[in-house]
Amino acid sequence: MPTSKLLSAVGNAELTFKNRVFMAPMTRARSEDHVANELTATYYAQRASAGLIFTEGTQISSQAIGWTNTPGIHTAEQIAGWKKVTEAVHKAGGLIFAQLWHTGRASHPDFHGGELPVAPSAIPFDSQVFTAEGPKPTVTPRELTIDEIKSTIADYEAAARAAKEAGFDGVEVHGANGYLPAQFLEDGPNKRTDEYGGPIENRARFLLEATDAAISVFGPERVSVRLSPRIPYNDMGDSNLEQTYMFAVEALEKKKVGILHFMESANLPEGAKPFAPEARKRFSGLFVVNVDYDQQTAEQAIESGLADAVTFGRLFISNPDLPERFRTNAPLAPSDHDTYYSGGENGYTDYPNLP
Ligand SMILES: Cc1cc2nc3c(=O)[nH]c(=O)nc-3n(C[C@H](O)[C@H](O)[C@H](O)COP(=O)(O)O)c2cc1C
Repeated sequence: MPTSKLLSAVGNAELTFKNRVFMAPMTRARSEDHVANELTATYYAQRASAGLIFTEGTQISSQAIGWTNTPGIHTAEQIAGWKKVTEAVHKAGGLIFAQLWHTGRASHPDFHGGELPVAPSAIPFDSQVFTAEGPKPTVTPRELTIDEIKSTIADYEAAARAAKEAGFDGVEVHGANGYLPAQFLEDGPNKRTDEYGGPIENRARFLLEATDAAISVFGPERVSVRLSPRIPYNDMGDSNLEQTYMFAVEALEKKKVGILHFMESANLPEGAKPFAPEARKRFSGLFVVNVDYDQQTAEQAIESGLADAVTFGRLFISNPDLPERFRTNAPLAPSDHDTYYSGGENGYTDYPNLP
């Protein structure tokens, strides 16, 4: 059997990952009262054979909430909940980063005592939010003041500190999927005229300050930043996507960020220019790709030098022992979409390992 690069170790000055089959961050909406619990610990420990686990999006503050039953990392109770998770994962031989999340405008007044969600700019947009009463249409958010932006960056730092206290091996700044840092980055949602809006140097400032906050706690090698230039949801848009995202990549390179977690489908439509190779050229840390990869395309991505590791999302939901299945070419179980966010053990901790 040819040697698998996907199953070989990789690392940086601070961390060694036992394989390059990483687990993608996935919201599972099973944290009642926004606190991770025993069931969360069981779920992540079951998946500890991943080279690295990224947790589901985890709120940095109560303002950051935009999805029902999702965990936070800004109270003592939440830190205690996550401690159970990191201890269980470490005991099972895994490594785990917390994904630091602020949903910004992709939220709903239901989460804020009837007040509006916050955003770079107060402009209407078309999306849906998963509330306690089911999906609801988004509202026009209110614009953050400069003072509020500064205190939100301080929230990132406090959340990173809380993640450290909870025993995480590092953190990921969630700069993808149309949440707050991406809302600042792209010129569709960001119409500000101050130092956080206008030219890309200004629009990238929020993401870069949030990254600096994480680095100030963990050091650069233990920080990942997730970016997604093209997503079909949360009503995002930029007049020059490539230029915008390559600016961000170059700025993250200057900060010596440990991991760049780049989302772009392995199956882009005919004729679409892939940005991942351009990002890869500009980034010397660990370059991790995601979206629609399978074992074969992941192996190719690493073999060709496009990536150092690949994150798998849906496959890790239904195959807790995914690296072992790859190693033995075992059949893969399909994930059940209906139980992604349904709560409880069903479709969460009841997917079996190979016998
Ligand atoms: C149920 C579910 C929840 C997700 N939640 C998050 C999340 O909290 N944060 C995030 O960055 N991406 C999230 N994603 C996106 C995944 O990280 C990943 O990008 C996506 O599943 C594509 O990878 P795949 O093709 O390997 O499944 C989620 C995806 C799924 C299926």
